[in-house]
Amino acid sequence: MARGPIVAIDGPAGSGKSTTARLVAEGLGFTYLDTGALYRAVTLHALNLGVDPEDEEGLGRVLREIELHFEPTGAGEGPRLIMNGRDVSEEIRSMRVAASVSAVARSAVVRGSLVDLQREIGRAGGFVVEGRDIGTVVFPDAEIKVFLVADVEQRAERRLGDLRRAGDTEISLEQVRKNLLDRDAIDSGRAIAPLRKAADAVELDTSRLTIAEQVDKVVCFCTSLPTSTPDRSAGSPGEAAPKSRS
Ligand code: DC
Repeated sequence: MARGPIVAIDGPAGSGKSTTARLVAEGLGFTYLDTGALYRAVTLHALNLGVDPEDEEGLGRVLREIELHFEPTGAGEGPRLIMNGRDVSEEIRSMRVAASVSAVARSAVVRGSLVDLQREIGRAGGFVVEGRDIGTVVFPDAEIKVFLVADVEQRAERRLGDLRRAGDTEISLEQVRKNLLDRDAIDSGRAIAPLRKAADAVELDTSRLTIAEQVDKVVCFCTSLPTSTPDRSAGSPGEAAPKSRS
């Protein structure tokens, strides 16, 4: 069966991918897939077990112990990420996880397992998938590819706002800015699936755009797609969870 369309949205941390991807998915009647959340969940479990991000064998153990799936929520909210039966959607956004996630995402064993899981979740199409390597590695045949960029100052302000809203009153703008720059360097410099704009992606600078403007622009890029909601009977993130086994 031919799959439904995939919209791939890549870009560095804080470029506006999550909000844009979620709202574009809502607008198109597609399902939103946040792949960064999966890397964050594996990182959370590794931190809880005291496994070092450089320890491939330890990370393999973490992956064998973990079951991940998304549960859909109503409009206006993203899906919840469930790890081993527990909703970790908030916990994975902490600075503790942010500080280690790029190191974990460099691991070959983690990437292999999570790329398989992402392809499995999105195999029927009808998805807006957000990450770093979606247009280059996970779905290189995506119908629409967008690469979002933004000034680091803007990105840091946005991330600080997210963290404040989540109740973190301690973190400073400078700490957030440093974390973004550190993650950019690791995500772009890693050997496997580095953060890169796909040759056939459209670049969009969101520094001076409102959320509504960036969503409108991405939806405009998607006008060539079929408008009907595709048949997702072959699987969606809300269904029986594919295991993230290595
Ligand atoms: O989008 P995010 O900030 O939640 O992503 C967290 C980290 O996960 C990011 O620093 C790099 C990694 N990541 C990745 O390597 N590949 C993806 N497709 C998505 C995220």
